[in-house]
Amino acid sequence: MNATIDQIKTEALRELASAVDRDAVGEIAVRYLGRKGRVTQYLRHISQLPSEERPLAGKRANELKNFLSAEIEAATRRLQAEALKRVEEIDVSLPGRPCFSGALHPITQTTREICAIFNRLGFETVEGPQVETDYYNFEALNIPKNHPAREMQDTFYVSENVVLRTHTSPIQVRIMAQRQPPVRIIAPGKVYRCDSDLTHTPMFHQVEGLMVDRKVSFGDLKGILTTFVQQIFDPETSVRFRPSFFPFTEPSAEVDIRCVICRGNGCRVCSQTGWLEVLGSGMVHPAVFENVGYDTRAYTGFAFGMGIERIAMLKYQIDDIRRFFENDSRFLRQF
Ligand code: PHE
Repeated sequence: MNATIDQIKTEALRELASAVDRDAVGEIAVRYLGRKGRVTQYLRHISQLPSEERPLAGKRANELKNFLSAEIEAATRRLQAEALKRVEEIDVSLPGRPCFSGALHPITQTTREICAIFNRLGFETVEGPQVETDYYNFEALNIPKNHPAREMQDTFYVSENVVLRTHTSPIQVRIMAQRQPPVRIIAPGKVYRCDSDLTHTPMFHQVEGLMVDRKVSFGDLKGILTTFVQQIFDPETSVRFRPSFFPFTEPSAEVDIRCVICRGNGCRVCSQTGWLEVLGSGMVHPAVFENVGYDTRAYTGFAFGMGIERIAMLKYQIDDIRRFFENDSRFLRQF
């Protein structure tokens, strides 16, 4: 009988000594002192002993119960102190874990840079809707239904008379319909064309510019756009104005810059021509002025439009437009 009490005590002490945390001690407490614990069961079975053995057995069992309660409490305190000490051992002088912060997308950066240059030249930044009516996207810009120029722009139709804008030019019309000259605006935004390859994505960004006043000339167009190109690329950049066609400008000109890669010697990027096309421009067509009720005898103006991805690709020498939209942080982190 006594041997059994001693056995329980030895085993309990051994288990307590090897307990690694307070949960383990809690389990030991249940296993020995709980309702079905070994000490409790031992106490219960005392009533079955011969009457002369009961007093001593009861006394020893109660002593063990009190002894184990105290030991369990001590073990709990010891383990708690050890846990606290481990926390204190954390090396607060270790360098922190880096936390990556976001940054502006290269297209956003380029857009802001372009707009900032024009803002300094007196142009106000404005915006317009991406879902546009046929009227603003085509009709008012002198591109009537069935006009062959509509084929220049593979259009996403929302319904018969509603489209995803194929260029930012409808913003020109919206602004002129609201304001009287002088007008000097720069309008960035997303545009959509049904097109997809190395240099085309179904959604891309353009910036539209418009200046209307008395006596605005083609010389003003050349001056403003040359200033712009030399600020966004390099002050030494050569510029060339090449005759072109847009239904909403007359005359129209494509603006080319000396190839930023080969400096004019001819390479793959400029298709051996030494020149790169960077934007479309021209003097606002009188038909457009008439559509917004401007007096064509009093006012003249010029407009231009450029692809922002194209500007960013030339500026940072990126050869695949799709990089901008893959959101690979290894690419984006470089800007
Ligand atoms: N909207 C034309 C395009 O998307 C660009 C442009 C704008 C040309 C304004 C002339 C004047 O290609």
